[in-house]
Amino acid sequence: GPAPLVDRFGRVHTDLRVSLTDRCNLRCTYCMPAEGLDWLSRPEVLTDDEVVRLVRVATERLGITSVRLTGGEPLLRRGLPGLVARLSSSGATPELSMTTNGIGLARTASALREAGLSRVNVSLDTLRADRFAEITRRDRLPDVLDGLRAARDAGLAPVKINAVPVRGVNDDEILDLTAFAVRNGYRMRFIESMPLDAHGAWDRDRMVTAAEILDRLGERYELVPLHARDNAPAEEWRIAGTAGLVGVIASVTRPFCGGCDRVRLTADGQLRNCLFATEESDLRALLRGGADDAALEAAWRTCLAGKEPGHAIGSADFRRPERPMSAIGG
Ligand code: GTP
Ligand code: 5AD
Ligand code: SF4
Repeated sequence: GPAPLVDRFGRVHTDLRVSLTDRCNLRCTYCMPAEGLDWLSRPEVLTDDEVVRLVRVATERLGITSVRLTGGEPLLRRGLPGLVARLSSSGATPELSMTTNGIGLARTASALREAGLSRVNVSLDTLRADRFAEITRRDRLPDVLDGLRAARDAGLAPVKINAVPVRGVNDDEILDLTAFAVRNGYRMRFIESMPLDAHGAWDRDRMVTAAEILDRLGERYELVPLHARDNAPAEEWRIAGTAGLVGVIASVTRPFCGGCDRVRLTADGQLRNCLFATEESDLRALLRGGADDAALEAAWRTCLAGKEPGHAIGSADFRRPERPMSAIGG
């Protein structure tokens, strides 16, 4: 097989996150301002052919084995099932997954499954319609619930729910969300909010820590550790007496940078060696300038060689990336 995509700390990168659009049909307050952002224009965004080419280089020449489609909201990408079909049948076939807000998933889940998508993670921060409308600034809770069900029924398993608890907003729903997930056969994960919103609204004191989340879960459930954490950002537990799993993604209080295996491609074709990277490598310019596969591979390896040991959230050294998470890809 290909030489591994390794950085100067010996971390091997096998996971690629590909953003398919920076646009979104929700406006989650912890992510975007109400008016939205300055979206990329059509010609700035990679075409299907360009995405397929880069993913093929990644799997054939760089040892990438799993590809996650993100956004913005990836379901807003036109012709998504067609792109998924091409990705799943080109080169050394990666495991294909997607992270979505679930809106529109009810309509496309089976087509995506047939095209070769293996599973989805769906964002859902609350089960209350009024609260959903406050958090996301759109009244679409039923669409998300329908999407979740359709994903499960289409066999996009395991379906995971991502929730970002914010103090005083939805942190009182940790147990309700978990019970809902257990009841319906979804895996529940709670995420510490990161300073990656578009408008500098992140507030350390409103972030709910993994320790607090686990305390809350412990009030109702007995948690049995699932496995030692390897590369996955989530730490997971079995919920005793149920078939359910619950996890936390503690990027801030328990960073997992030492085991990071991820590299990211933005919707406009910029390669980032870290969610928090302050520099990007312009693969789109190479592609559109006629670069061959070897040149793309070399650019990719050079980008990874510059990867920092980890982020410094909470320290004086921390620098926010120039783009918010919705533009980078979650
Ligand atoms: P699984 O493969 O199902 O475990 O997916 P995942 O948890 O890796 O991906 P998902 O897109 O569901 O992301 C869940 C949360 O993890 C989001 O808040 C992401 O922003 C965050 N996340 C994903 N990758 C990274 C990363 O490399 N670093 C940090 N700090 N957070 C990440
Ligand atoms: N910090 C942590 N997670 C976030 N997400 C969106 N914004 C943030 C943030 N600032 C989550 C979404 C989605 C995933 C891709 O990232 O809820 O599930
Ligand atoms: Fe990897 Fe950067 Fe995420 Fe840390 S913050 S886990 S180094 S991508």
